[in-house]
Amino acid sequence: MTGGGPARVRVALAEAGYDVVVGRGLIASLGALCAAAGLRPTRVHVFEDVGVSERVRNAAVESLEARHVTRSEHRLAERTKSIVTLEDMLVSLAQAKVERSDLVVSLGGGVLGDVAGLAAGLHRRGVRVVQCPTTLLAMVDASVGGKTGVNLRASIDDTPVLLKNAVGVFHQPSLVVADVDVLESLPPRELRCGLAECIKHAVIAGPTGWGMLDLARLAGAMPALLGGDRTAMVRLVEQNVQLKAGVVEGDEREMASGDAPGRRALNLGHTFAHAIEACESTRVVVEGEPRHPQHGEAVGLGLIAAAALGEHAGALSAERRGAMTRAISAAGLPTTLQRGVDAATLISAMRQDKKASGGRLRLVMPTSQGVSMLDDPGDATLTRAWSAVIGG
Ligand SMILES: NC(=O)c1ccc[n+]([C@@H]2O[C@H](COP(=O)([O-])OP(=O)(O)OC[C@H]3O[C@@H](n4cnc5c(N)ncnc54)[C@H](O)[C@@H]3O)[C@@H](O)[C@H]2O)c1
Repeated sequence: MTGGGPARVRVALAEAGYDVVVGRGLIASLGALCAAAGLRPTRVHVFEDVGVSERVRNAAVESLEARHVTRSEHRLAERTKSIVTLEDMLVSLAQAKVERSDLVVSLGGGVLGDVAGLAAGLHRRGVRVVQCPTTLLAMVDASVGGKTGVNLRASIDDTPVLLKNAVGVFHQPSLVVADVDVLESLPPRELRCGLAECIKHAVIAGPTGWGMLDLARLAGAMPALLGGDRTAMVRLVEQNVQLKAGVVEGDEREMASGDAPGRRALNLGHTFAHAIEACESTRVVVEGEPRHPQHGEAVGLGLIAAAALGEHAGALSAERRGAMTRAISAAGLPTTLQRGVDAATLISAMRQDKKASGGRLRLVMPTSQGVSMLDDPGDATLTRAWSAVIGG
């Protein structure tokens, strides 16, 4: 951060780079930030997440300097991250007469941002989008990098499955505005989910991770972050965006192959996590109640399972595995799945993941130096990895 102003992280891409502006009190300046980024549309359509307070949403809309501003509200969750919602959004853009030179703004969490980004990518073959993430997860991860998508429900081999983010396009935003003040209204459970992705980034950064990308320092900062320390939060978001930007710049469309993980590094823990999310019988204890895990909670558990895999393969030291587990616990994330699901069911769900090819997995494995790719280790090894989280 420079001179007390907001921090800016540049995502430098071959075709069109963009800035991620991180700071406090930015929403009321959204219009000015767009104009400063060269975005001066005639029409703007704002997709709004109803989880965000009306005060914040109105401040954003009132700041916009376009001649015609239209808005639509959305109450979304994973089960409505669907083609039906996408169609609703496309209809809104058509009704608002948004043209190719106009602008779409997404003001909300990662679900809204992913669907709104896809709608922007498809409407008239692509209109510009500004992402204003309002959850920690969306700030540090979903809003940066241009991946958009919706889930698909399908029956495969007679088993109904939710195929996460199965349909989407790459559509990079023109600007990202992350105002940490909007996190004030975010439920603690959602905040902890965002912290899971921050821990993932610290693992990817490896032992030379700086600031909040150092696992031990991140674990130590958890009380401040969970307690609402906004200065620490700006630093957390800025450094996580730097990490993500660096990964995306190196492999914008996830085309790395072979042993270099490239953008696939960001999938660390996610093949495990998607299996947990896909099996409806999985439960974790959250705030004293058994609940189906949310994405971030599943990522935390996925990191623990992946760490077991890494240590078993001799790639991850016991010390670094311990640092991962300590950071997950310090974030208040669940570290075990309740009884009621077995490893075989979870392994079968892993093999349905869109990252699996012909049912063969290619996993990202944490190592003492960061991450590396691992070919399908087979059911016995996967069962052992799952046993690190299947328990009480
Ligand atoms: N595109 C990517 O690269 C990428 C990366 C990571 C995750 N994702 C996706 O992100 C999604 C998860 O995003 P999420 O964790 O933000 O969940 P989410 O979008 O479902 O938001 C969580 C809840 O918080 C509410 N909310 C949003 N902002 C709020 C605020 N400021 N105050 C109070 N409530 C608020 C929402 O209404 C929702 O109920 C998943 O679908 C995942 O696949 C995408």
